[in-house]
Parts: sequence; structure tokens; C-alpha cells
Amino acid sequence: MAVAEVVVVGSCMTDLVSLTRRLPKPGETIHGQKFFTGYGGKGANQCVQAARLGAKTSMICKVGKDSFGYDYIENFKKNGIPIEFVGQAEDAATGAASIIVNGEGQNFIVIVAGANLLLDIGDLKRAAHVITRAKVMVCQLEVTPSVSLEALKMAHTGGVKTLFNPAPALTDLDPQFYTYSDIICCNESEAEILTGIAVGNPEDAGRVGLALLERGCKTAVVTLGPEGCVVVSTKELIPKHVPTKKVTAVDTTGAGDSFVGALAFYLAYYPALPLEEMLRKANFIATISVQATGTQSSFPYRKDLPQDLF
Ligand code: RIB
Repeated sequence: MAVAEVVVVGSCMTDLVSLTRRLPKPGETIHGQKFFTGYGGKGANQCVQAARLGAKTSMICKVGKDSFGYDYIENFKKNGIPIEFVGQAEDAATGAASIIVNGEGQNFIVIVAGANLLLDIGDLKRAAHVITRAKVMVCQLEVTPSVSLEALKMAHTGGVKTLFNPAPALTDLDPQFYTYSDIICCNESEAEILTGIAVGNPEDAGRVGLALLERGCKTAVVTLGPEGCVVVSTKELIPKHVPTKKVTAVDTTGAGDSFVGALAFYLAYYPALPLEEMLRKANFIATISVQATGTQSSFPYRKDLPQDLF
């Protein structure tokens, strides 16, 4: 078995996507323009983006024993992601996400996590040898939080770099999440839920970053959609804005996952690169993803990207 450099402990969802010009009002029915299903879930999305950039990955997750689950396993195989640690629950359905994308490309998502919530500490223990030999371990909050926390502890204790994406955000996040995370990466709305600081510009994002460092993580990245991201670390307590190229977004679903997956790839394969440079490249890759519809279907492959990214 090849060693995985990027390990993701996280979710798989089937995305059920409707494109509409606007959101319905309560009690209203409106016509949408298009419906499609796709592969999603923040964990799997991040793993797929890292794999498409060329990372050797491993995904530790749980789907149902239903058609969505079997299809998802095929999707992992197509993306070159080993399925050794993709469990199938007998008694829960594969996670599903109902997604509405409006005319401005903004997304509104409701997840029903299903089998994702059956991923347990036993599953992590079975994969411990893979988690502790990786270069980077990534996790989010679409599985049971105590499982994500245990994965962070396992990786951190084994000297593996930990990248934590606290999404969807929790107001009462266990403080240990911060101490076991080398890098925390969140978007504006997650930043506000975590810290109570509303983020409207890079200066606000810098304040959030500093607040997250005070809680114990070493580096905080706050993504700002079309404005790129802000990074701050304990090495130098000065927030830096890393802007990105302006593009016309058609669907922003999963852009944050494309960013996190790309960042995991650079951390694992180009550890000597300055972090700001990794973030510039991850910004660029996420920018490509917003220019096509769908989640994983919009994530770029290495062969289609400018080679100076590698
Ligand atoms: O971040 C986007 C993802 O959030 C979607 O793929 C959906 O499945 C939810 O997990």
C-alpha cells in the first residue's frame, strides 16, 4: 500500500442541486432552471481536489449501503482515492445535501449527514497507521465533532501537520480543536460564528485570525470569496491579505473545499514554499472552481492548470 501524504477524515454527501434565479419566499413555489446531482461533502471534496492536483491521498469516511453510497465509492476510484477506509453503514443513508444556487452564483445548503455521523473512533483506530504516516491530515465538522477532534489529536501527536476547516461552524466548539490544529481555515460566516466578529473586509478577517491564534492554533486563514484570504500566524502576529484574480462566478459551491484541498496539497508536497505563496496558488485554483457549475465537477485537474503552479 502506497503511503498517503494527504489524509482526510470527513464527510461524503450526494449533492442535490437546483439552479434558480432567486430563493423562494416562505410558502412560495418557484421554477428553477436546472437540477443535477453530484458528489459533495466537504471532506471528500477536499480530498478530491488534493488528488486531482497529484496528491497521494486517503479518505476515512462512511457512506450508506445504498445506491448513493455505491456510486460514491466508484467516484473515489475514478479520482484515484483508495477506498480502504471508506466504510458502508448498514443502518443509515449516505449523507445528502440539498443545494440551491441563485443567479449570482451564491449557494444555500442544508445537509442531512446520515452515515457520516456513524464514522467512529474505531474507524480512526483502524486507520491510525495511515493517519500518523501522512504529511498532512485534514478534517471538518460534517462528521461527529468528537471524531474530528480525535483525528486531530492522533495526527498532531504523531507529528503530522493538521489542517482544520471548522465547517459547518459550531458556537460551542471544544477549545481543544484550536490547540491540536496547526492551521485553521474558515470562511467569513464561519469566522463570525466562531468569534462573534462580523467579517466584511480584510481588516475584520485579520482581527478574527488574531482571535483564533489566542485560542491556541499556530496559523489562521480566513477566506473572503472574491477578495482572496487573510493569513496570520504566531511567527509574526501581523495579518496579511492575499488577494485573488477577479472572475465571474457561476457557482461558488465547494470553492472553499477546492481551496482547502489545494492548500493541503501544497503543505504536503511543497513544504518549503512560503505560506503566502501556497495561499496565492490555492486562491487561483479555487477561482477556477467558481467558473463552472457543480461541486467536484468544477474542480480542476493538474493537467489543465498552468504548470508554474507546480
Ligand atoms: O462545501 C460544499 C459542500 O458542503 C457541498 O458539497 C455539500 O455537500 C456540503 O457538504
